[in-house]
Amino acid sequence: MLIELTDIVKIYNQGEVNEVRALEGVQLSVAQGTMVCLKGASGSGKSTLLSIIGCIYPPTSGRAVIAGTQLARLPDRFLTIHRRQTIGFIFQHFNILPRLSVLENIILPLMPLGFSPARRRAMAEPLLERYGIHHRRNFPAGEISGGELQRVAIARALINDPPIIIADEPTAHLDTHLSREFLATMRELKGEGKTIIIASHDPLVTEDAGLDRRYGVQDGRVTQDVC
Ligand SMILES: Nc1ncnc2c1ncn2[C@@H]1O[C@H](COP(=O)(O)OP(=O)(O)OP(=O)(O)O)[C@@H](O)[C@H]1O
Ligand SMILES: [Mg+2]
Repeated sequence: MLIELTDIVKIYNQGEVNEVRALEGVQLSVAQGTMVCLKGASGSGKSTLLSIIGCIYPPTSGRAVIAGTQLARLPDRFLTIHRRQTIGFIFQHFNILPRLSVLENIILPLMPLGFSPARRRAMAEPLLERYGIHHRRNFPAGEISGGELQRVAIARALINDPPIIIADEPTAHLDTHLSREFLATMRELKGEGKTIIIASHDPLVTEDAGLDRRYGVQDGRVTQDVC
């Protein structure tokens, strides 16, 4: 399994008055080349779970093996390196920096990796073409359309060619047409061997035919495959 979570517990602010038990004994296995969705109410723990899968922080306890690496064993610095090599993120608001150009936004994840500026631009080139934003590459990202922005977010998630793509409520700010386009792109990437994990309560996502597994998240627990 590309992702293997066993007895995952995540406690925020442990031991303090504002302690929150966000995940309570989560078990989850995700095979390479599959597309999986996590569905659950607000506050159920979806983003926390995505953060652990996304190597943003290790669990408080439990075993998380992501692409062959067990997170708890990694010092912070290595967790960051593992994340940069393994994960592409797509966020609800896309987290695009409006004053930077389209190209600068897309190559952002490469900045700490020591590539030359020319190499970074060369890596972005095929993605700019593939996602139809080449003509916008020097525009400030704040001045492009919602659909273009979405494609910039996808290109940025792919720039380091990660095996895992994580999308947190990716369609929350998209109309139906753009949501469908987004899902078609995710299916296409799955076809290329990427593993895709989407947290959403949008029925368009949770009913998508491209999903291999659909899990519920409730009070910090992952419920059985509801496919
Ligand atoms: N950084 C944090 N510090 C403290 N508590 C947090 C933090 N992040 C999340 N929580 C709490 O952990 C629980 C799970 O939150 P999480 O963001 O994972 O839920 P979610 O399912 O993604 O919700 P939503 O659908 O609203 O995005 C909630 O009770 C939340 O308030
Ligand atoms: Mg969330």
